[in-house]
Amino acid sequence: MKLAFKLPICAVGAAALSLAGAVAGSRWISATESQAATATVAAVPASGDGTLFTAFVSVLRNPRCMNCHSQGDFPRQGDDGHQHAMNVRRGPDGHGVTAQKCSTCHQEANLAGAHMPPGAPHWGLPPPNIPMIWQGLTDAQICRSLKNPKENKNRNIDQLVEHFTKDELVAWGWNPGEGRNPIPMPRDEFVAKVKQWQAAGAPCPSDTAQKAKS
Ligand code: HEC
Ligand code: HEC
Repeated sequence: MKLAFKLPICAVGAAALSLAGAVAGSRWISATESQAATATVAAVPASGDGTLFTAFVSVLRNPRCMNCHSQGDFPRQGDDGHQHAMNVRRGPDGHGVTAQKCSTCHQEANLAGAHMPPGAPHWGLPPPNIPMIWQGLTDAQICRSLKNPKENKNRNIDQLVEHFTKDELVAWGWNPGEGRNPIPMPRDEFVAKVKQWQAAGAPCPSDTAQKAKS
C-alpha cells in the first residue's frame, strides 16, 4: 500500500523538477537524482505478486533441505535424493526408531571424511504428525504450508523468518561437510530475500498455471 501511494508522488515530483530544470539549467542534476531514486523504488517487486517468495524458493528445493523435507517416512541422501541407506525411518518423534536413532550416527557437527555422517544440533526429521513435507508441492503450496500454523508448529511469520535465518539445521545447508554440495545461493543473499518477503507481508504466489515440481 505504502509503495503504491508513494510512486505517483515521486513521478509527479520528478516531472516537476524536470520542468523546473528546463527553466533553470542548474536544476538538471537534482532532476536526474530524483529520477534515479524513483527507478530504485520501482525496481522493488510489488508486494502481493509472490515473486518475493519465488526469489528464494530454489533454496528450499535444494537437496540439502529437501532430503529432510521430502515425502515418505524416511530421510533422503545425496543430490539425487535417494532413500537413506540402512532403512533409517522417521520414527515417532522424527529422530529415528528405538534401534536406530539419528544421533547414533549424526553428531552436532559434520564428521570429517567422505561418506561420513553430516551433523548439526537436533539432527532429525520433523515429527510424523507435522512432517513439513515440501516435495511435490507447487511454490504456492510450499508458501502456504510454511505460513499455516497447523503445518509449521504454530510459528508466526517472525518466528518462521527467525528459523530461516538462524536455525542450525538450515545453516548446515551452507556447510554440509565433505563431498556434499552446499546451497549455491549465498546465505546472506538468502537471508536478505527472506527479510524482503517478510517486510512485504510474506505474500504467496498464486496457484494458476503452475505445475507441481519434484
Ligand atoms: C547408522 C548410521 C545412521 C543413522 C542411524 C542415520 N544416519 Fe543419516 N547418514 C548416515 C551417513 C553415513 C550419511 C552420509 C552418507 C554419504 O555421504 O554417503 C548420512 C546422511 C544423511 C543425510 C544426507 C544429507 C544430504 O543432503 O546428502 C540426511 C538428510 C540424513 N542422513 C538424515 C538422517 C536422519 C534424519 C536420521 C534419523 C531419522 C538418520 N539420518 C539416521 C548415517 C546414519
Ligand atoms: C537434518 C534434517 C533437516 C535439514 C537438512 C533441514 N531441515 Fe528444516 N526442519 C527439520 C526439522 C526436524 C524441523 C522441525 C523443527 C521444529 O519444528 O522445531 C524443520 C523445520 C523447518 C522449518 C519450519 C517451518 C515449516 O513450516 O517447515 C523451516 C522453515 C525449515 N525447516 C527450513 C529448512 C531449510 C530452508 C533447510 C535447508 C537450508 C532445511 N530446513 C534443512 C529438519 C531439517
